[in-house]
Amino acid sequence: MNVLVTGAAGYIGSHTVVELLAAGHTVTGVDDFSLGKRCAAERISAVSGQAVRIVELDLRSTPGVDALLAVGNFDAIIHLAGRKFVGESVDDPVLYFDRNIGTSIPLFRAAQQHGVRKIVFSSSCTVYGNPEHLPVTEESPLAPVTPYGFTKLAIEQLLSDLCVSTPELDVIALRYFNPIGAHPSGLLGEYVDGKPNNLLPYIMKVASGELPYFSLFGDDYDTEDGSCVRDYVHVEDIARGHVAALEALDDGRRGFRAINLGTGTGRSVLEMLEACRNATQHHIPTQVHPRRDGDAKEIFADPQRAAEEIGWKAERTLKEMCQDHWHFTVSATKRGRKKDEAISN
Ligand code: UFG
Repeated sequence: MNVLVTGAAGYIGSHTVVELLAAGHTVTGVDDFSLGKRCAAERISAVSGQAVRIVELDLRSTPGVDALLAVGNFDAIIHLAGRKFVGESVDDPVLYFDRNIGTSIPLFRAAQQHGVRKIVFSSSCTVYGNPEHLPVTEESPLAPVTPYGFTKLAIEQLLSDLCVSTPELDVIALRYFNPIGAHPSGLLGEYVDGKPNNLLPYIMKVASGELPYFSLFGDDYDTEDGSCVRDYVHVEDIARGHVAALEALDDGRRGFRAINLGTGTGRSVLEMLEACRNATQHHIPTQVHPRRDGDAKEIFADPQRAAEEIGWKAERTLKEMCQDHWHFTVSATKRGRKKDEAISN
């Protein structure tokens, strides 16, 4: 298929483009490089052995998006562009509605106008909020608790409504759980300048000595060891999930579907810390801090629908996730932290 990938220079985007190329698809990427890095195309080419083009474009520009789709002749769009930090969305909701919803509207309008009939959308398990029953299935109540989560749900709703108004349209929203890890080459991964928001990037910076200690946000939750539980999944598995979803869109079913991408196993923050100590062979000093606002106590996926409908199952182990994340951190550090163009989402 001829595929347009938005957010192609980001963490999920860069790994997804590699998998798409490996599966024989033709890819055009777009990115505004606000978070994604300019060196992404070069690095994707280095690991995949195939040239790829990432066009610089702000998707909020209706004429720009229209012009791209008018000539692109795309069979499908994989829409990954957006911001993803829960805390940042609480501090600046306008940014999230602007960058997540504001970018989707010109894109979906142009898709309608230029006859693109297949869309894979990057959603998140954050749409489930604080679930009462575990594991969460795609039928679990949708109750986001942050602006970030609301934007993901709003885009899902828009796509679902579009599928009603445009019966030829076929859409899959992939609800990722917690993507971690990196490409084993050490060239693609998630590198965040300064203090990271997410768990693995933070722990790895402590292991490498760049940050002094890890702050554990709450050790008094009603979980087995008192820390929060999440479903961590290797970014390469997530990337494969996009290819699987894209190819399943060809199966004759039409309409909107949401699909969980998770391993089905919940891991606590303390368990992750221990796995990272083992993978890095480094001391990771830890301090207990108060709970972080908006954190769900526990969430993990029921991944059965992904297996049944798109033939996807997470394959990478927790050890691989931590080792690959560490290898990327060490490689990025070697390339020079200041000048490093490593990819962050
Ligand atoms: N945590 C810490 N200390 C830190 C960072 C995180 O203890 O310095 C804990 C959090 O409290 C949480 C767990 O580690 O319990 C995971 O936190 P992350 O920030 O890595 O991930 P979240 O689960 O909050 O959010 C992530 C992504 C979202 C996505 C969501 C889905 O950032 O984009 O997963 O669950 F929507």
